[in-house]
Amino acid sequence: MIEWDSAQLREIAQEQGTPCFVYSHAMIEDRAKKLLNLALPFGCCPRYAVKANNHPDVIRLLDGLGMHFDASSSYEAQELLDLGVIGEKISLSSQQPAHNLPELLTKGVRYVATSMHQLELYEATTGRPSAVALRVNPGVGAGHNNRNMTGGANSSFGLWNTYVAEALHFVHKHGIVIDRLHIHIGSGADPTIWGKMMEAALDIAETMPDVVRLDIGGGFKIHRYGDEKEADMIAIGAEFGRLLQGFAAKTGRKLHLEIEPGTWLVGHAGVLLSEIVDIVDTGSDGHTFLRLNTGMNDFARPTMYGSQHQMAVLNDSADTEEYVVVGHNCETGDILTTAPTDPEGIEPRELRSAAIGDTLAIYDTGVYCRSMSLKGYNSFPGASELFI
Ligand SMILES: Cc1ncc(COP(=O)(O)O)c(C=O)c1O
Repeated sequence: MIEWDSAQLREIAQEQGTPCFVYSHAMIEDRAKKLLNLALPFGCCPRYAVKANNHPDVIRLLDGLGMHFDASSSYEAQELLDLGVIGEKISLSSQQPAHNLPELLTKGVRYVATSMHQLELYEATTGRPSAVALRVNPGVGAGHNNRNMTGGANSSFGLWNTYVAEALHFVHKHGIVIDRLHIHIGSGADPTIWGKMMEAALDIAETMPDVVRLDIGGGFKIHRYGDEKEADMIAIGAEFGRLLQGFAAKTGRKLHLEIEPGTWLVGHAGVLLSEIVDIVDTGSDGHTFLRLNTGMNDFARPTMYGSQHQMAVLNDSADTEEYVVVGHNCETGDILTTAPTDPEGIEPRELRSAAIGDTLAIYDTGVYCRSMSLKGYNSFPGASELFI
């Protein structure tokens, strides 16, 4: 993997000011090419999950490389169209019904109904195509923690799997075919689940005779900290291929695969640069805290999920100390060094001995950081973004 150059990051922090997200063109391109070259027996279409990071330069770069897109709201789909992405490259799968469905369909956007109500709304839309996709909750979920699992009985995403027959009956009555099955079980899943996940998806596809494309969603994990395992996309692709071939041998149906990675594609390609604006402690039995000029308003992942990110104080100190790193928001929970998957737990970090004014870098912040920011909280202006 391409590494960040600390001297360059320090320079950027000085010239650009902090807080600032820096995104690497080279890292995104490298990962995109790997996905675009994945060999699957009946073809593969990688779609970038735009919600992960909707910076226009990221979209333009991926569009230029030939990537397709997964939008999670009709507003995201519209943003993509406004940036010049053609509708045929966009798949829309949203919790909320689209505010502009006729326009999106006219432009060629591929629609995924995620409930019976959305299927009914689609059917009633004038000028709609006669084929549609259906998102199904397969009854199993996987994710970094419960808050990013999107399968299973505790998740509202997709049509519950036992209602598939009802959906098929409905579309048949109205002359519509469901030609694409969409499943996404969560983000940050352990790499070992993918075979089981594909088997569950194929069991559902077998009951849907018109399905020719299977969208297996995203959720491919990256290593950010500790013992987290990076998904090996080549190995996962090979496993998917084997199972799709088995399905073809059994049913005669050659399914084209779609995948929707956000994290795997762009996660490593972002770093958040901040300034240490204060250092305080809570006595000999307490902690030493590094207070930053950023926090949960720019970087909500630790607070939301207890996610852990590698950090570095960008100075030349040879000594290290244990610190708890906190954000600038007036919230006790604005802790950036949380315990694994526990937003309430604290895990101090050994970092280079720091002084007020030093730059602190938070790595692997390319996704679900700026795009998930808590706009306006404490009226902090929010981090800037630089694409290099
Ligand atoms: C439908 C869908 N596809 C793809 C993704 C991307 O997931 P990840 O960034 O973990 O790859 C998500 C994330 O929530 C999603 O909901």
